[in-house]
Amino acid sequence: MKDKKIVIYNNKISPALVKTIVIKYSFPKNNEFIKLFNSVGWERTYKRVCENKKHSTFSVSLYIDKEIVGMGRVVGDGAYFTIYDIVVDKNYQGLGLGSIVMHEIVDWYKSIQDDDTFLYVNASKNRERFYEKFGFRSRPNEDVGAGMKWYGE
Ligand SMILES: CC(C)(COP(=O)(O)OP(=O)(O)OC[C@H]1O[C@@H](n2cnc3c(N)ncnc32)[C@H](O)[C@@H]1OP(=O)(O)O)[C@@H](O)C(=O)NCCC(=O)NCCS
Repeated sequence: MKDKKIVIYNNKISPALVKTIVIKYSFPKNNEFIKLFNSVGWERTYKRVCENKKHSTFSVSLYIDKEIVGMGRVVGDGAYFTIYDIVVDKNYQGLGLGSIVMHEIVDWYKSIQDDDTFLYVNASKNRERFYEKFGFRSRPNEDVGAGMKWYGE
């Protein structure tokens, strides 16, 4: 997919921010990924980032002035798809970039969606509200049980 450019304008901060965002439909470079992660206090090894890249079905990366400012990715097997690593650089949060990433992912999913495909996200604690804005619903609900995580035996 070809890169897309959009301009964001935010007058809630002073001076007002006007920036061109370049949306790339690709996995970030390994050093960009790690830099972005570090900006929110997260860490991931180079080795693991290489594995993430290999197994990502769809990725989106946002750039301002050629610097990475946001990303998100989807891992899937053709039927089940899960969103991971939605991250916006600490200095650019609250400006709508996380929403851009999510809209791009949902738009992509709609383009491949079928009767037998499913899209999930594992929200971090207290991040549920962010995902609800894009059509996700917490589990358990009347349709599905709770998502579960393995903690050992
Ligand atoms: C979560 C994150 C991606 C949001 O990105 P962002 O660019 O700040 O989000 P946006 O500016 O697009 O905000 C969209 C909406 O989500 C809400 N929102 C933003 N961060 C939120 C959070 N941490 N929890 C709940 N809601 C949140 C905003 O209030 C906004 O609501 P509004 O549309 O009613 O104003 C960003 O804060 C981040 O990278 N956090 C650290 C990494 C992380 O926790 N990632 C998610 C892992 S599950």
